Amino acid sequence: MASRIGLGFFGLGTVGSAVVGALAERAARLERQIGRPFEVRRALVRDLAKPRAAPLDAAALTLDAADVLDDPDVHVVVELMGGVEPANSYVRRALQAGKHVVTANKEVMAAHGVELLELAAAQGRDLYFEASVGGGIPLIGPFRQDLAANQIRQVHAILNGTTNYILTEMAAAGVSYEHALAEAQRLGYAEPDPANDVEGADAACKLAILASLAFTSPVRPADVYREGITRIRAADFRYADELGYGIKLLAIAKRGAQGLEARVHPAFVQKDLLLGQVGGVYNAVWLHGDLLGRALFIGRGAGPEPTSSAIVADLIDLGHNIRRGVHNRVPLALDGRLPVLPMAEVRSRFYFRLWVSDRPGVLARIGAVCGEHAISIASVIQKEVDQHASRAELVFLTHEAQEAAVQRALARIARLDVVAEVASLIRVEDLAE
Ligand SMILES: NC(=O)c1ccc[n+]([C@@H]2O[C@H](COP(=O)([O-])OP(=O)(O)OC[C@H]3O[C@@H](n4cnc5c(N)ncnc54)[C@H](OP(=O)(O)O)[C@@H]3O)[C@@H](O)[C@H]2O)c1
Repeated sequence: MASRIGLGFFGLGTVGSAVVGALAERAARLERQIGRPFEVRRALVRDLAKPRAAPLDAAALTLDAADVLDDPDVHVVVELMGGVEPANSYVRRALQAGKHVVTANKEVMAAHGVELLELAAAQGRDLYFEASVGGGIPLIGPFRQDLAANQIRQVHAILNGTTNYILTEMAAAGVSYEHALAEAQRLGYAEPDPANDVEGADAACKLAILASLAFTSPVRPADVYREGITRIRAADFRYADELGYGIKLLAIAKRGAQGLEARVHPAFVQKDLLLGQVGGVYNAVWLHGDLLGRALFIGRGAGPEPTSSAIVADLIDLGHNIRRGVHNRVPLALDGRLPVLPMAEVRSRFYFRLWVSDRPGVLARIGAVCGEHAISIASVIQKEVDQHASRAELVFLTHEAQEAAVQRALARIARLDVVAEVASLIRVEDLAE
């Protein structure tokens, strides 16, 4: 019998169990494809007594990482624990021990990917991470290989299914953020503590990985400006719709003359654009390459089966490498040194919504502050009037302006005696298809 490719798992939870299941179901086909069978030898977990969906003998479970790292018949470590530590140290130790690694861990790859890839290359081993961004959607492979001839100019992406579900519900049903979040939690799309998703941290990690690959220059999560979706109100969706837009949590990376932009924040996106129509828990990545032009990748960005699709594909590719005795066939040189622009210097269009005193002259005073900050107003809507409180709601859409100028102007506007509240500020991304 052909010699086996021994696998050791770090983590056997939602994704780990699905991967072990997919490997078992497809064992015969995978062996035909690769020429060798996979064998799941050990799996590190926290709790031996927990019931598990994985078709794996209980004797294979362990609480000791050394059982995986020191097993000479484990050729590949599949890291599916999540979190930065101890996962990062285990991946490092696995590579140092001469094992290949497949991981779905966006936090580890975003924060330590550059060093880990260098370590893998130095050790003559492979490090795969297709599942770390966009779940089952092929992204790392295309960015690394299929798009390599292009200079990528821009990436606009929806990288978090939880927030996309919440925003889709708010847009379709006119419900509040709190209501849509509760529904997402009931359906299992949002964690009991949703902070990581709704504050944009998850999307920022994924954008850091994609931007690093797109521009072959390291972008760290801390370089990514981020703003979550918790302050968006049902009224913002009504006005967005009236102006021809929807609202998405966008992950944006751009290459400009001064450096890179890397930011995650809610944005107005034209309703008729394909990206604007990506709803529910779906993820999408829309990019612009100088040769290819525009391309859109869309699919299920999370869930055990889609994620295992990416992990098993990594294992198949790795299996071919092992069989042929090669590694690092498509080297990733993230050796650019492109600076990431501070958010204050980024330019875009803006939507803002204010509650003001319902009396003459208010518009002129707000317009004057905008003018002093070189912000040109494209349109104004005044609709809601709270007659009880003599307040009116005013909505502005600006032409392109610098972030810092808009922030300064809004701080001034908030202090005007005729302004009761600056209720919303959302950036507008006008994209050409
Ligand atoms: N879920 C998705 O849809 C999805 C999609 C894309 C990427 N990912 C990524 O895939 C990875 C795994 O996600 P998941 O949803 O499968 O997580 P999960 O269900 O929470 O599973 C984590 C597994 O790791 C084990 N574990 C965690 N910390 C450990 C520690 N310190 N020592 C030993 N074992 C430890 C847990 O052991 P016990 O079982 O004993 O608790 C569990 O088996 C994460 O990096 C995640 O970001 C997930």
